[in-house]
Amino acid sequence: MRRRVQGLEIFLLLCSFCHSIQSNYTSLFSFGDSYTDTGNIVIISGQAAPNLLLTKPPYGMTFFGHPTGRISDGRLAIDFIAQALGLPLLPPSQAANQSFLQGANFAVAGGTALNRTFFQENGDQIFTPYNVSLGDQLGWFDAMKPSLCNSTQVRSHTPRVVGMISAATEKLIKEGGKTVVVSGLTPMGCATGNLVLFGSQNEVDYEPDTGCLKDLNSLSRDHNLQLRRALMQLNGRYPGVRVIYADLYTPIVNFVLTPECYGFNGTDGALRCCCGSGGGRYNFNATVSCGSPGTSACGDPSAYVNWDGIHLTEAANHHIADGWLKGPYAHPPILSRV
Ligand SMILES: *[C@@H]1O[C@H](CO)[C@@H](O)[C@H](O)[C@H]1NC(C)=O
Ligand SMILES: *[C@@H]1O[C@H](CO)[C@@H](O)[C@H](O)[C@H]1NC(C)=O
Ligand SMILES: *[C@@H]1O[C@H](CO)[C@@H](O)[C@H](O)[C@H]1NC(C)=O
Ligand SMILES: *[C@@H]1O[C@H](CO)[C@@H](O)[C@H](O)[C@H]1NC(C)=O
Ligand SMILES: *[C@@H]1O[C@H](CO)[C@@H](O)[C@H](O)[C@H]1NC(C)=O
Ligand SMILES: *[C@@H]1O[C@H](CO)[C@@H](O)[C@H](O)[C@H]1NC(C)=O
Ligand SMILES: *[C@@H]1O[C@H](CO)[C@@H](O)[C@H](O)[C@H]1NC(C)=O
Repeated sequence: MRRRVQGLEIFLLLCSFCHSIQSNYTSLFSFGDSYTDTGNIVIISGQAAPNLLLTKPPYGMTFFGHPTGRISDGRLAIDFIAQALGLPLLPPSQAANQSFLQGANFAVAGGTALNRTFFQENGDQIFTPYNVSLGDQLGWFDAMKPSLCNSTQVRSHTPRVVGMISAATEKLIKEGGKTVVVSGLTPMGCATGNLVLFGSQNEVDYEPDTGCLKDLNSLSRDHNLQLRRALMQLNGRYPGVRVIYADLYTPIVNFVLTPECYGFNGTDGALRCCCGSGGGRYNFNATVSCGSPGTSACGDPSAYVNWDGIHLTEAANHHIADGWLKGPYAHPPILSRV
């Protein structure tokens, strides 16, 4: 339970992530949080790993057939991007005995853009059990760099968070990054878990067309607007470098508005989660979340946008990755050539 609530809080704080893609797409490096982690959290947790729900079925049921440390029923957007670029699925950077020549994933579930000291000094309650910030992830990258090819690149990510991301992006550019993809936030007011935890009796708190929570979506839009501005400035400052804004807001709102157009169930595929408990409109109970005894996945995860209340299904991740690779959700699309 604690973990789930933590996840939601992190989701609220910042669920942006960044990818760094080398010019010729011979390698791919990724930074971020649970939306992008391909297994670091399990490795870092060590002996506590079996306590994490994400290490239990039905996580992984759709693609891998078993839990892999990814928080979905299958692949994440970063996996679809790696496949589209002809690269192997990214190994978690903390894995032993791995070759990282074609890329590595530094993302960790619960990862934050700002560090723990910042939250402590600010008097914020700390929800993530893991002390891993974007700065730490960049540090791991630095440590790995000498063993990699010599032209890597990067990029990074409300004003301070955006500033941190932007500074991290700039660092990657200075290290030779030619294409840096930075994603914004999801519409947080559309996440099943948030709809339950921040639910309201007052109809005016909901957007009439989507049924999502107004305030949370507004927070996401504001973050994304500031992030886009910061990225445009970087694009202006570094000619010859592509800093791509990857929109995570528009695709999810589109799924919610017209689920059938994307193969999702029009009745409950948009806002109800696939794997949860309690039934009802949202099928989400924070104390009994996906992977806990008594929970089960829906029969067809591909008919749902939301997997476990917070994270997306493989089907949603696939649509998003396609939209980033070929358009219309990335500006410019990753596969477009300069
Ligand atoms: C990619 O790299 C290969 C080998 O280094 C080179 O032959 C090819 O021209 C490059 N392609 C592009 C599009 O830059
Ligand atoms: C990594 O490789 C070393 C040397 O080959 C070996 O001793 C070790 O057991 C391997 N570790 C894992 C986790 O496979
Ligand atoms: C944490 O963030 C604060 C404020 O942003 C910064 O001054 C400090 O150096 C950071 N600490 C570490 C360990 O990165
Ligand atoms: C978090 O990590 C930083 C360095 O990475 C360390 O200085 C700090 O003491 C750690 N904080 C906690 C609460 O573990
Ligand atoms: C990158 O360059 C450094 C120093 O120039 C060199 O030591 C290192 O071996 C190079 N790495 C690769 C993979 O070529
Ligand atoms: C959508 O889900 C509902 C409830 O699970 C189900 O009754 C209905 O048949 C589904 N619609 C389609 C088109 O699969
Ligand atoms: C969530 O599940 C717990 C444990 O089964 C139960 O006690 C609680 O009433 C449920 N909460 C809601 C809102 O249904």
